Amino acid sequence: MQTDPRRTGATRLGTPLSPNATRVMLLGAGELGKEVIIALQRLGVEVIAVDRYANAPGHQVAHRAHVIDMTDAAALRALVEKEQPHLIVPEIEAIATEALADIESAGLATVIPTARATQLTMNREGIRRLAAEQLGLPTSPYAFAQSLDEMKAAIAKIGFPCVVKPVMSSSGKGQSVLKSDADVEPAWNYAMAGGRVNHGRVIVEGFIDFEYEITQLTVRAADPASGETQTYFCDPIGHVQVAGDYVESWQPQAMSPAALAKSRDVAAKVVTALGGRGLFGVELFVRGDDVWFSEVSPRPHDTGLVTLATQRFSEFELHARAILGLPVDTALRAPGASAVIYGGLDEAGIAFEGVAEALAVPGADLRLFGKPESFVKRRMGVALATGADTGEARERAKLAASKVRPVSAR
Ligand SMILES: Nc1ncnc2c1ncn2[C@@H]1O[C@H](COP(=O)(O)OP(=O)(O)OP(=O)(O)O)[C@@H](O)[C@H]1O
Ligand SMILES: [Mg+2]
Repeated sequence: MQTDPRRTGATRLGTPLSPNATRVMLLGAGELGKEVIIALQRLGVEVIAVDRYANAPGHQVAHRAHVIDMTDAAALRALVEKEQPHLIVPEIEAIATEALADIESAGLATVIPTARATQLTMNREGIRRLAAEQLGLPTSPYAFAQSLDEMKAAIAKIGFPCVVKPVMSSSGKGQSVLKSDADVEPAWNYAMAGGRVNHGRVIVEGFIDFEYEITQLTVRAADPASGETQTYFCDPIGHVQVAGDYVESWQPQAMSPAALAKSRDVAAKVVTALGGRGLFGVELFVRGDDVWFSEVSPRPHDTGLVTLATQRFSEFELHARAILGLPVDTALRAPGASAVIYGGLDEAGIAFEGVAEALAVPGADLRLFGKPESFVKRRMGVALATGADTGEARERAKLAASKVRPVSAR
């Protein structure tokens, strides 16, 4: 059986909604998926958006929208068989990745970047062992534990302060920083309550007293001259995390030449080991010239929303191009920043006031994601800004974000 060239990234694009369409299925259709979909739409790709709830941001800009439980392997397989996408693009971690592996090995579709990458990165143990033990990359000291007693033994080895995280979790859920023995039991209980799937397994990491942390966006895309997959780097993104969620990011983050070179070396090794094509968000901690690998998303990264303002092609456009086998250009256009806009209230169908004032801030832009329901701490939009430098851009982005007021529409 000959593989359909649309699955391997041959650079011929069809007409959407016709038999020769290039079909891409997004698994997860949040604000990041929505931007990937818009980028694909601009290239005439037929897009199928999937999420666990109706009217997700990406559903609103796709050719077709589906609501399924993506952790249900049978439901996922059935939808892929029905829609017959050439490419499957996971946007979130909580997916039945074993179904993706089956789909890939049956040759039904290409999984971006690879099914193995989605399996390794959805579990902190998989990616940590790959990075530290197979690739020999610098990471925080770590140990895994399966019970409170094992966790105590792990902490005895690693020492305080340390960080405990469920192996299957994201956005800081179930994660605690521990300073003394009194913190141990609460951290275990919190991890057990906050894991995505209760596997009862945690990672204990030594606390890294970093100066700053970055996301090194790294792209595996076809080199237009040779057709071979090459590694491309964006400028480093600095960010601030509060309770496991990013609140502010900026690009470029100033770094020593040695720290930048080490970051890129680590990033290249990780993405090469994961393979496939697409954009990756490599999270790194930096102090002076020292760099530690933290984790990696095999997909656009939330802190990379800033690239909508700063780069010639945003991380979403770079992902779209890379997965289609097209060349990429990671050039920075201007220094810039992003600041998150939270819902601030629990309600469906909210409204936003102050949008005009926000957009009157020099260099500012906005994305309102169109999420059907707001929660106090749900990310509902983002303010973006460019500036003469990242300092000015950060002030502008924060000012613009502060002007947007989510209000009850009742
Ligand atoms: N070992 C560590 N030492 C110091 N700080 C840490 C450590 N691990 C995590 N952090 C801090 O907590 C943040 C979230 O950690 P991590 O990225 O592992 O969690 P996450 O749940 O995957 O978050 P997200 O999904 O938002 O990326 C990091 O960006 C960093 O600020
Ligand atoms: Mg992270």
